[in-house]
Amino acid sequence: MAELKILTFPDRRLRLKARPVAAASDRLRRLADAMLAAMYAAGGVGLAATQVNVQLRLLVMDTSLERDSPQCLVNPEIVDASGEVISEEGCLSVPEFTAEVSRAQRVSVRARSIDMEPVELELDGLAAICVQHEIDHLDGKLFIDYLSPLKRRMLRKRLEKTERASRPEAVGL
Ligand code: NI
Repeated sequence: MAELKILTFPDRRLRLKARPVAAASDRLRRLADAMLAAMYAAGGVGLAATQVNVQLRLLVMDTSLERDSPQCLVNPEIVDASGEVISEEGCLSVPEFTAEVSRAQRVSVRARSIDMEPVELELDGLAAICVQHEIDHLDGKLFIDYLSPLKRRMLRKRLEKTERASRPEAVGL
């Protein structure tokens, strides 16, 4: 699969809602591999298929310090959430911008593996934040949607002026 391009805000395609994956396939596995490669190349900890213009409910993440624990979740759903944590988030689709976002501290996730085997995960810390952020992407939602409208408008103006080629590496989810 060719190298994937990560869409950036305010691209309207980031607002599309992804549909569930029906069955495992080589195409799905190749997509997940290409998404992991794009995520690692960009220095991100997570990437949703929506961000590479594929409207399927697939996300990849690696929240390990060693960057050696890739995870692929298909059709992920949060079935339980508790606590609250505020953290500084970034996003590969919103370059050069971070903001404090409030999320659930712990989540229970029901999903499928890349081979469509049922998976249940109990996540906290960065992994819990990341999975909430990526599932938002699959629903066409960005972390900046949690900011005030004024802050969002200022960000949009700034990004529209930014030359893409000149942007530094973003820390992104
Ligand atoms: Ni993101």
